[in-house]
Amino acid sequence: MIRRKGPVFCLETPNTTLVIKADTAEYLYYGKKLVSGGGFEPFFGSPRKIFSQYGGDDYTEYSVLLENADGGMSTAFAFSKCKILTEKPEIAGLPSSYGTGKTLELKYVDLPTKAALYLYYTVFDDSDVIAVSSKLVNGSKKEMHVRRLASVQLDLMGDYSFVTFEGTWARERQKISREIGKGVFYNDSKKGGSSHDRNPFVIAEGEDGVYGFNLIYSGNHKELLEQTQSGRARIVCGINDFMFRWALAPGEEFASPEAVMCYAPSEDALSLAMHAFISEHIVRGKWKKRERPVLVNNWEGTYFDFNEEKILNIARAAKETGVELFVLDDGWFGNRCDDRRALGDWFDNEEKTGGGLKHLADKIREMGLDFGIWVEPEMINEDSELYRSHPNFAMKVPGREPTRMRNQLCLNLADEKVQNYVMRVISDVIARSGASYVKWDYNRMLTDPFGKNIPQGEYFHRYMLGYYRIVSRITKKFPSVLFEGCSGGGGRFDLGNFCYFQQYWTSDDTDARERLKIQAGSSYGYPQTVMGAHVSACPNHQTGDSNPLETRFNIACGGLLGYELDMSKLTEDEMKTVAAQIAFYKENRKLLQFGDHYRLGDAFGGNMAGFMTVSKDKNTAIAVVSASEYIICGPVPSISFKGLNPSAVYEVTTREQVNYKNVLSFTAGGDLLMNAKLPLHDLYSDTQSWENSRRLYTRMFIFKKVKS
Ligand code: GLA
Repeated sequence: MIRRKGPVFCLETPNTTLVIKADTAEYLYYGKKLVSGGGFEPFFGSPRKIFSQYGGDDYTEYSVLLENADGGMSTAFAFSKCKILTEKPEIAGLPSSYGTGKTLELKYVDLPTKAALYLYYTVFDDSDVIAVSSKLVNGSKKEMHVRRLASVQLDLMGDYSFVTFEGTWARERQKISREIGKGVFYNDSKKGGSSHDRNPFVIAEGEDGVYGFNLIYSGNHKELLEQTQSGRARIVCGINDFMFRWALAPGEEFASPEAVMCYAPSEDALSLAMHAFISEHIVRGKWKKRERPVLVNNWEGTYFDFNEEKILNIARAAKETGVELFVLDDGWFGNRCDDRRALGDWFDNEEKTGGGLKHLADKIREMGLDFGIWVEPEMINEDSELYRSHPNFAMKVPGREPTRMRNQLCLNLADEKVQNYVMRVISDVIARSGASYVKWDYNRMLTDPFGKNIPQGEYFHRYMLGYYRIVSRITKKFPSVLFEGCSGGGGRFDLGNFCYFQQYWTSDDTDARERLKIQAGSSYGYPQTVMGAHVSACPNHQTGDSNPLETRFNIACGGLLGYELDMSKLTEDEMKTVAAQIAFYKENRKLLQFGDHYRLGDAFGGNMAGFMTVSKDKNTAIAVVSASEYIICGPVPSISFKGLNPSAVYEVTTREQVNYKNVLSFTAGGDLLMNAKLPLHDLYSDTQSWENSRRLYTRMFIFKKVKS
């Protein structure tokens, strides 16, 4: 809902209000919902601006920087007009949120250059998340250059800590909270992809609550917080201005990616709002609200070393345990026997597939499993048919040795010819295999951004426009296919990708202890509905640690369950355990995948951590609780739960695990379960626990409401 009183616009969401004074481009208020309805005049003259520009006496980080035709960079954008739109405008070439709501369009003009700046604020009927974007239009007769165009600027007053989600390959999205005092701190990616290192989701936390920001973009991004001596805290988020210089011919426009922002009183409330928004306004298509299949992926089970027999053995064992989808990972194409060759050669390796992709896929389907396929469409190995025939498809700077990562180069997706080629060959793989699931990988970031006739300052963004052109067309062409994104695990885990891929491989690290943290960090900004989570073999291939099969399953229940090991090698007992796990998961799948998801304890400090998923009606819930180490004579491990109905009574049981035969069972009030600490005396009584001091101890609790 958007209400107008003269120049003042109140943008209302179910629980928040944002107040903007359009003529002076001021924020008057953003926070908890206002119900009194007015009295804004005394608040006019606010130093909190909705955009900022170079020129004038505001030296705080700016959101807009335009290079005029004469090379000058000062502008003085001043109010021109405003409109409330009932249809949310599309952002040409870029993914964006969708749904019913209202959009406030504000226009500011720089008279000497005739450049126009548009800002868009969309409020949806059912979400506390507000979508914000901006656009520059060249109204003059001369070319100008965009040097910076942020998607959103929010000015606050006071001191905020800046929370970011940082890491590396196999250690993505670890939560870091920083007090920055006075000064400026930024979180960014210059890698061409949103990166493992610094996710675009950030939070500013202050006494008044928390403000979360994210970007619907998968390329270079930048989110900064600057706190000045005058007490202003400015947050600016958008496409990274690193190497950025975009030419605008007369009449042309440049649109920023869309950002989202949300005010909430607590981190938990912010996460719930972000989860609901992503599930409703970002993820789309047939799989939006469908329960996701339990899959088996052969990667950690075989790596490149497989043939038809091995694959069918894994599939057979998987089928016996209740798995629904078989995913054939890397190595099925061209001469792909290791990671040094064949990327780009998307034709069947007859030997490894025993007669072609369709042949193998059909055999798997005959077993009653769905078939899924791995592809890495944006890449090329120099040792490939594709490179030999089209060396100019690779991204390289002429006359310079390109940087290789995992022995591969990137394709020059800024070139339409290359885009068309990728669309054609990948569509053919999906069509000829009849795959109902596609894992779209991207195993390295960009290092040699260059394309003939593409200005250097435009390259990174033109790559993204090419990438989005491809994924939007392919996902539209195959509307029934479930797409899972991947980037060496979670290297491009962002809202841009979730507009096309309904789920994402969260991390290549499948160790339960590490996963607990990675999934907890991811859950601040993203729902469990997008997080692939697999049970893999032990000792774990990334960390060398061993954890019980039940622990690995419990932790994988924090996302979309899969198995990633050679299931044909499971013992009879392990087969029974896995079958019981999958049966339990399927019975509770709707709750686990689509319930309200909370973090328990603290995965980034302290000994107790876990998660909890609560049904929308709060009648049922499942929690997984873990203690990261056994402390001799230490405090009794204990936990409080979240999200229950405080006045209801719940029957609480623990899932029978092979390592915990003693099932706990009791009834207790929702308020008690959430406010008191439940002691878990037997958490360490796992009979195998002495084998490995780094073992992760977990239990799973099931809640059923018995009285309102
Ligand atoms: C990446 C992915 C893995 C697997 C390999 C295959 O590392 O994250 O899951 O698909 O590529 O090469």
